[in-house]
Amino acid sequence: MMTRRQASAGILASAVLAAVATVAVAQEPKPLQLPSPRSQGGQPLFAALKQRRSTREYSDRSLQVQILSDLLWAAFGINRPSGDRTAPYWRHIMVIDIYVALADGVWLYEPRMHTLLPHLKDDIREQTGLQDFVATAPLNLIYVAHGERMMDISPEERRLYASVDTGFIGQNVYLFCASEGLATVFRGAIDYPKLTRALKLPDQQFVTFAQTVGYPRV
Ligand SMILES: Cc1cc2nc3c(=O)[nH]c(=O)nc-3n(C[C@H](O)[C@H](O)[C@H](O)COP(=O)(O)O)c2cc1C
Repeated sequence: MMTRRQASAGILASAVLAAVATVAVAQEPKPLQLPSPRSQGGQPLFAALKQRRSTREYSDRSLQVQILSDLLWAAFGINRPSGDRTAPYWRHIMVIDIYVALADGVWLYEPRMHTLLPHLKDDIREQTGLQDFVATAPLNLIYVAHGERMMDISPEERRLYASVDTGFIGQNVYLFCASEGLATVFRGAIDYPKLTRALKLPDQQFVTFAQTVGYPRV
């Protein structure tokens, strides 16, 4: 049987390990493996379509990691062995990335591993839009286009096709949120230069739209 002293030593060792882990995370954020997305459930399509709407009043309640996993998979996850996605995309060239702006920083969704890659440690939610609720809602998705993958077309066409690709993803998010009782709004009211600077995007990449997700304020 474990003595009280041994038990205390065990607790202390765990506390030290936890502290070391915290320091390690603070120094170098690691990719966050999302749990597997749910493969079943949700509301029937017509029930979700009836509920689909834009919401602009959010509770500050955070989203569970399983909900985040399901949401990102529904948005633009891989749904076939070919690696293709839940949303269609222009000319079979993958140009849209989804950045996930949370209170603890900004992450890049990587659909192949269904992982979040650390991008920034800062809370930039306030800079994702011109409306007040964006700063306090738990999640803002930022849709970013790789312009450098579309160099054979004009800048106007780049913006057009990137926007269409984003719109399909946005509607997936709307339907997922309708099905789960979550609140969302797709947004173009953005200070684009400010958000581009905050995101530290490479040249040629540009923000198309953003989309807030959270629980409705009751
Ligand atoms: C391209 C686009 C940009 C939008 N931008 C904003 C926005 O910046 N802020 C906002 O509150 N709603 C925005 N919306 C949401 C629309 O205002 C909303 O979809 C419309 O009023 C219809 O309402 P519903 O979505 O509840 O049916 C946008 C929608 C689209 C399609």
